[in-house]
Order: sequence, then structure tokens, then C-alpha cells
Amino acid sequence: MKGLEGRAAIVTGAGQGLGRGITERLIAEGCRVLAVDVRPDGLSSLRGAEILVQDSTADDAPATILEACRKSFTTLDILVNNVGLGNAPALHDTTDEIYDRYLDVNLRAMFRLSRDALPMLFESRGNIVNIASSIGLSGYMGFGAYTAAKAGVIGVTRQMASAYGPRGVRVNAVAPGVIRTPGTEDRLHTARFKALVVATMPLGMTGEPEDVASAVAFLASQDARLVTGQVLAVDGGQTSSVFVSEEMIAAWVATQTE
Ligand SMILES: NC(=O)c1ccc[n+]([C@@H]2O[C@H](COP(=O)([O-])OP(=O)(O)OC[C@H]3O[C@@H](n4cnc5c(N)ncnc54)[C@H](O)[C@@H]3O)[C@@H](O)[C@H]2O)c1
Repeated sequence: MKGLEGRAAIVTGAGQGLGRGITERLIAEGCRVLAVDVRPDGLSSLRGAEILVQDSTADDAPATILEACRKSFTTLDILVNNVGLGNAPALHDTTDEIYDRYLDVNLRAMFRLSRDALPMLFESRGNIVNIASSIGLSGYMGFGAYTAAKAGVIGVTRQMASAYGPRGVRVNAVAPGVIRTPGTEDRLHTARFKALVVATMPLGMTGEPEDVASAVAFLASQDARLVTGQVLAVDGGQTSSVFVSEEMIAAWVATQTE
């Protein structure tokens, strides 16, 4: 028997990148998945999922998504709040409009959908997995409003775990580091990115959507029945240490001897 046989899940932002990888993994584990995205192109090539074209930030998004789930599966066991928008500017360049947009997509959408999904999750004693970010744990030079939103996602994860554990609902988050997706692919191989980001990771490598999908599949499964309120960083060790690679030491030594 597969790990999630017969379960019913919703994955938001499922058309590409991590959401797509998570959807494919849940389906491979025997799960029925409602894949939601604002863009139809990515969804239409997803095999084995129910699909819904829906903007997660729309006023009626929670009602529409949960109604589609009820219609397809009658029940909801797993909610994966993956939808997000990256690449935000630093705080000093963040206008009110930019702030609102990043908070809307990254935090408000998951907050509202999670809240409205609670009755279905109480019934199934289901669980939520939120996709946060290593930047929500550690901070970063840029990404002002994104950092605020992802730290908020982590806060909501812990609050909900505490409030709804007694009703049998688990709530966890995955905090990816740098994962290869259509949104990040361009910069991953530049010398600047390798020196500034990859060299700061103890494992010295970026991840693939499958790395995040494995963590989600674990947290969503019965194997994690005692795990709630946790944030699992899938980041090559980036947020667990102040890491200085041999290359960085050599570069620093070179500046001292010039
Ligand atoms: N890729 C990384 O390195 C990385 C690192 C840390 C955290 N994350 C987080 O993982 C999640 C997925 O990231 P990704 O890199 O796969 O992103 P991506 O940009 O590649 O894909 C996001 C998907 O969400 C959809 N989407 C965007 N706005 C939407 C909306 N309003 N309503 C419905 N769908 C919408 C897009 O159409 C797209 O299919 C995000 O929450 C992101 O913040 C990603």
C-alpha cells in the first residue's frame, strides 16, 4: 500500500515548480489531488489530478476551492498551501502596493484557505503543510515583504498547530532553501549566485522540487502522526549554521595579502 492511498488533497500554485512536484509526488503516493493555479497552462499537462483554475487571492477563492474539493472528493485530508510570489525588493524599495501584493499571495491566501478548510479537516482529522521559506527563518539582504510574509506563514503554522491539535488536526511547514524551478533557474548557475549563496550552504548544493515534495509527503503522512507545529528546513543546512566554505576563506585570505 502506498503512503497516502485514498487520501484527498488540495495543492495551491500547482502548475509549475514546487507545487507541481508536490502534486506529482502526492499522486504517486496514492493521493487524489485538486491542483489549483491561476494559470491554466501548467495545470492542463498534470496527469491524474483534478484541476481548478483559480486566483488564490480572489475574495471567493477559499469558497470556490473548497467547493471544488467537496465536489470531487467529498472530503479533505491534506491541504498544501504552496502558492507564493518570490523575488521581492529590499524593504527600502517596498511600496505599499508591493507590500500588499506579497502579503496577499504569500500569507493572506494561505490564512484564509486554512481557516475555511478547518471544518473539513476536523471531520477527517487531516493536516496542513505550508510552504514557507528559509528566508522566513533567517532573514536575507533583500526580499523585505516576502520575508515578512513567510515569517507570518511560520507563525500561523505554529498558532494553528497549537489551537487545533486537540481537534486532531496537525499543521506543519516546510522551509525550502534554494530550489531549481522556472522562477529560480536563471540565476542558479551564475558565479555571483554560487559565491553569495551556494557557498554558504554546508551541503554546497541547491535542491530540486522532489526534495521539497519528499518532505511534504512525510509531513502529510501517518509517519508524522506525532509531528505538529514544526518547520522542516530543506535548505542544504543553510539556516542551521554559520557556514564558511574553504572557497570563502581562500577569497578572504586573498584580500588580506593583496
Ligand atoms: N523555488 C525556491 O527556491 C523556493 C524557495 C523557498 C520558498 N519557495 C516557496 O515555494 C512556493 C513555490 O515556489 P516556486 O519556486 O515553485 O514558484 P513558481 O513561481 O515557480 O510557481 C508558483 C506557481 O503559483 C502560481 N500562482 C502565482 N500566483 C498565484 C495566485 N495568486 N493564485 C494561484 N496561483 C498562483 C503560478 O502560476 C505558478 O504556477 C512559494 O510559496 C515560494 O515562496 C520557493
